[in-house]
Amino acid sequence: MDSIILQNTNLTVSRLCIGGCPAGEYGWGNVSRAEVQHAMLQAVEHGVNFFDTADTYGLGRSEETLGETLRPHREKVVIATKFGVRVAGGKTWFDNSPAYIETALNESRKRLQTDYIDLYQVHYLDGVTPIDAMMEALIRHQQKGDIRAIGLSNITPDVLPSLTPYADYIATFQNHYSLAHREDEAAMRQMAHMLTAAPLTWGSLGQGILTGKYDETVHFDENDRRSRGVYENFYGDKLQKNLRIVAVMRPIAQAHHVPVASVAVRWILQAMQGSVVITGVKTPEQAKDNALALHFALTDDELAALTEVSA
Ligand SMILES: NC(=O)c1ccc[n+]([C@@H]2O[C@H](COP(=O)([O-])OP(=O)(O)OC[C@H]3O[C@@H](n4cnc5c(N)ncnc54)[C@H](OP(=O)(O)O)[C@@H]3O)[C@@H](O)[C@H]2O)c1
Repeated sequence: MDSIILQNTNLTVSRLCIGGCPAGEYGWGNVSRAEVQHAMLQAVEHGVNFFDTADTYGLGRSEETLGETLRPHREKVVIATKFGVRVAGGKTWFDNSPAYIETALNESRKRLQTDYIDLYQVHYLDGVTPIDAMMEALIRHQQKGDIRAIGLSNITPDVLPSLTPYADYIATFQNHYSLAHREDEAAMRQMAHMLTAAPLTWGSLGQGILTGKYDETVHFDENDRRSRGVYENFYGDKLQKNLRIVAVMRPIAQAHHVPVASVAVRWILQAMQGSVVITGVKTPEQAKDNALALHFALTDDELAALTEVSA
């Protein structure tokens, strides 16, 4: 089993983390709650102990489902959630203020049916709350035992000068990275080094395109966010490039007797040192396929071919 200890913590996590966005049952097409719950339990059976969600996924629905499903396994799983995206009155905005942290944290703990959150992440920096005030509030909650570790998300190197004084308290940051999205690769390595924090990758399957199950005819219903052009992995030149990447992945997957999706996960595990790969899953089969990535290794030649086609 491929696992790491998150730096600055005593949390040991599998290098595959199950993403809880589909569990929000909103914006990911048709999702069955029972199937998602089964997928989480399947992941546990396959040695995955790390689960990611956010208070904003399905406006709390994802946290509720995750909390209910994982309650019998609470002692052996590591639960990560996020705060900072507020939605009310048809508006969405970011809020990292200490007062809101207190409220959001208590609500997340209730929905997750837990006294403590293992990894509490800032979903987006709001650009208003001083980073010192935000970090000091999070550290106070850590010292009280409300949270075990602090993580960030969607950060860029320009905020490093404000964050590095807190490097001893920051365990992780969660950013977009995959064979289909390598634009921030150098920045992620720099941030991992400067913050002594583990990079958690989202979009690891290119929102599904890197699983090999979609082709030029790909089409999503309106209730699926991928029907929107901003999900560029499925449109135009980007789609064509992704299909070329998948063409290189296929024989590699066959050689290892694994599904294409697990090659997408495995490439990140080997390309981004000390990383954890988050994948959203809707079914037990998807959870099982993605977990297979923890049990094989790409050869140097395979790694090089994938790195080249995705450059
Ligand atoms: N920090 C942030 O701002 C942020 C942003 C986005 C996501 N995230 C986190 O990252 C997680 C992953 O979401 P993502 O947007 O990054 O998507 P992703 O993991 O790249 O793709 C997930 C989708 O791929 C398909 N899939 C997954 N495993 C598969 C398999 N083995 N075979 C075939 N299809 C498979 C499923 O959709 P279909 O079956 O419908 O194709 C699934 O919903 C989220 O749940 C969330 O926890 C965080």
